[in-house]
Amino acid sequence: MTVAVFGASGQTGRRVVARLREDGHDVLAVGRRASVAGEGIRTAIADLGHSNVDELAGILQGVDAVVFAAAGDPIRIDRDGALHVIEASERAGARRFVLITGMGVGRSRPAEYHGGFWDIYFGAKAASEDGLRSSTLSWTILQPGELLNTPGRGAVELAPTGSLPIGAVSRDDVALTVAAVLADDRTSGRSWEIVQGHRPLGDAIERALGAAVDRRA
Ligand SMILES: NC(=O)c1ccc[n+]([C@@H]2O[C@H](COP(=O)([O-])OP(=O)(O)OC[C@H]3O[C@@H](n4cnc5c(N)ncnc54)[C@H](OP(=O)(O)O)[C@@H]3O)[C@@H](O)[C@H]2O)c1
Repeated sequence: MTVAVFGASGQTGRRVVARLREDGHDVLAVGRRASVAGEGIRTAIADLGHSNVDELAGILQGVDAVVFAAAGDPIRIDRDGALHVIEASERAGARRFVLITGMGVGRSRPAEYHGGFWDIYFGAKAASEDGLRSSTLSWTILQPGELLNTPGRGAVELAPTGSLPIGAVSRDDVALTVAAVLADDRTSGRSWEIVQGHRPLGDAIERALGAAVDRRA
């Protein structure tokens, strides 16, 4: 399928693009500049702080699925940018959507992740999740712990929101998981936390699918 990746130049986004290509998908890499190139990769320029829904829907014509891995100003990018991309995806007829938010959305979080920036950040991410859940898209939400640039293990812990101890995860493994859930319609309607673990990804997905759907899904 053709998958649009927002935040394609980012540390996770780049890995998502590479993984999707390895899986044989065509990629539309969307960002403020053309930073990702290669066979099977088209680029589109969009600044999420300025692009409106019509412009984004134009970019997304012919796209089957969308991955949102962008981050910036929490209100303008993580919340409003994501909501615009969600609406544009519906308008353009993209069916599938994978949203990366963060561990701590929709659950209790440690004291150091409260107040000031953190309340704005988690509030913005929560609003993007709510917008996606109320869309007509077939969605999956991934809530990673702290992102690491350590090599991936191909092994993670995945579970409904609020189920796992706060932790960290390799960006490689997040990218692997994005590609895996995108290709598996059974993950539609699921919101999963993801941290590093010892469970092979396929097993982690099966286990998470067997868990009760979280209260926010
Ligand atoms: N960092 C963490 O520990 C952590 C933890 C949990 C979840 N997350 C979430 O995981 C995702 C990936 O995080 P990351 O740290 O790998 O990302 P990152 O490296 O910070 O990349 C952010 C991406 O967003 C793009 N972006 C920023 N402002 C933009 C704008 N105005 N218009 C269009 N694109 C814009 C950047 O493009 P440019 O190259 O143009 O700047 C870049 O591609 C994000 O959603 C983040 O919130 C992060």
